[in-house]
Amino acid sequence: MSGESTQHIDPQHIGIIMDGNGRWAKQRGHSRPRGHKEGAKATRRAIDACQELGVRYLTLYAFSAENWNRPDFEVKALMELLELFLARETKTLIKRRIRLHAIGRIEELPASANKALRKAIDATAEFDDWHLVLALNYSSRNEVLDAARSFAKSVAAGEIDPDKTDWDGFAQHLYTAGLPDPDLIIRTSGETRVSNFLLMQSAYAEFYFTETLWPDFDKSHLEKAIASYRNRERRFGKTGEQIATPSQA
Ligand code: IPE
Ligand code: IPE
Ligand code: MG
Repeated sequence: MSGESTQHIDPQHIGIIMDGNGRWAKQRGHSRPRGHKEGAKATRRAIDACQELGVRYLTLYAFSAENWNRPDFEVKALMELLELFLARETKTLIKRRIRLHAIGRIEELPASANKALRKAIDATAEFDDWHLVLALNYSSRNEVLDAARSFAKSVAAGEIDPDKTDWDGFAQHLYTAGLPDPDLIIRTSGETRVSNFLLMQSAYAEFYFTETLWPDFDKSHLEKAIASYRNRERRFGKTGEQIATPSQA
């Protein structure tokens, strides 16, 4: 997590709030789990598309800490889908040399999902070119709380001096330690909120909102989002002139 980022022409890290599965299903008279099943197909497409378009890091918001409050049958269906996804896709991740990471309170997932996740993470741990980050039982506020606890323990153990810690030092305690900040965050389904996703890491991210429901999202939508990103000027607090003429920076 670097505080000072540099502008790349294309985003190297995209975060996606995959929203709209329920509405996609409702529009067709299907159950919500059916919408999630269709959403999982869009997830596979997004992973492929990112690799084809040269996006090295993809973070997918798959299940929020608040999503436990949904009806039991829906939570159960989502957990089963996660296991199915890992069982089916781990081979593909290995073949494509994509390293899997998970952010969130993973230990609170059902034991079998947790086990499948650990297995997939271990099986891809040697890769470095491509990264897929699944946000599961994720809450940005819980992440800050967990980071503060971890930081306090390091201070108590005499390992770090709190007066000499900068943001990059503190960020080492976030779930995302070692991963770059997202450059672009996409949310589907027309909602224009962040719903507790990567609040710290998106301090200087560009946002892209689309009406497209997640199960309908494909490579062409991703290309549109990237095209929009290319037209933005990321200033990181500087003036437009400084960005246009870096020698004045
Ligand atoms: C996103 O789709 C998937 C998850 C949050 C797990 P939703 O299930 O939120 O779909 P809508 O918002 O009800 O349409
Ligand atoms: C955010 O979507 C969480 C995920 C995409 C996993 P939600 O559908 O849960 O968000 P809200 O409740 O509409 O803010
Ligand atoms: Mg939703």
